[in-house]
Amino acid sequence: MYFAAAPGVDREFEFISKDQKQTAELAAEFAAFLQPGDVVALQGDLGSGKTVTARAIARALGYEGNVTSPTFTLLNIYPAEKMPVYHFDFYRIATSHEAVDIGTLDYFEGEGVCLVEWPERVADILPAGSYFFSLDIPDYHTDPDKRTIVISRSS
Ligand SMILES: Nc1ncnc2c1ncn2[C@@H]1O[C@H](COP(=O)(O)OP(=O)(O)O)[C@@H](O)[C@H]1O
Ligand SMILES: [Mg+2]
Repeated sequence: MYFAAAPGVDREFEFISKDQKQTAELAAEFAAFLQPGDVVALQGDLGSGKTVTARAIARALGYEGNVTSPTFTLLNIYPAEKMPVYHFDFYRIATSHEAVDIGTLDYFEGEGVCLVEWPERVADILPAGSYFFSLDIPDYHTDPDKRTIVISRSS
């Protein structure tokens, strides 16, 4: 176990991941706290591990199928056992209007959990109380598998 209390509810949580497996394990533990209607902003550069995290969360919620970035479709829906998972990737949009046009606000208030890659693109419509799962590559050249991960929750 990497953390025992609900992340971000009482404190911000920081973690150093040494490889993809550790990131996935952390994400799976985090997933156990998720409730219907929760929004998780997956923040980080290209290749930082947003999709790795989304996949681990979907798996932990009981979805066994493919999880890939919906770069062109903007949204993948996974019928996970515990609750539906709405996986967004807003890399290609210019403004949050395009996200609103595909019904994103309804998903944000829906009965599933929303995982949002490139949340910066939709910062103005992210609900209060969204979780932030932020991944950084601190030593790109000397330790390319290392990630600094911060889990927090907006007020
Ligand atoms: N500690 C780590 N955590 C997550 N991914 C890692 C880590 N170390 C290496 N990787 C690699 O980084 C890549 C992350 O890819 P991906 O999750 O698709 O990134 P993103 O969705 O942020 O663009 C994968 O190839 C993964 O194997
Ligand atoms: Mg991705």
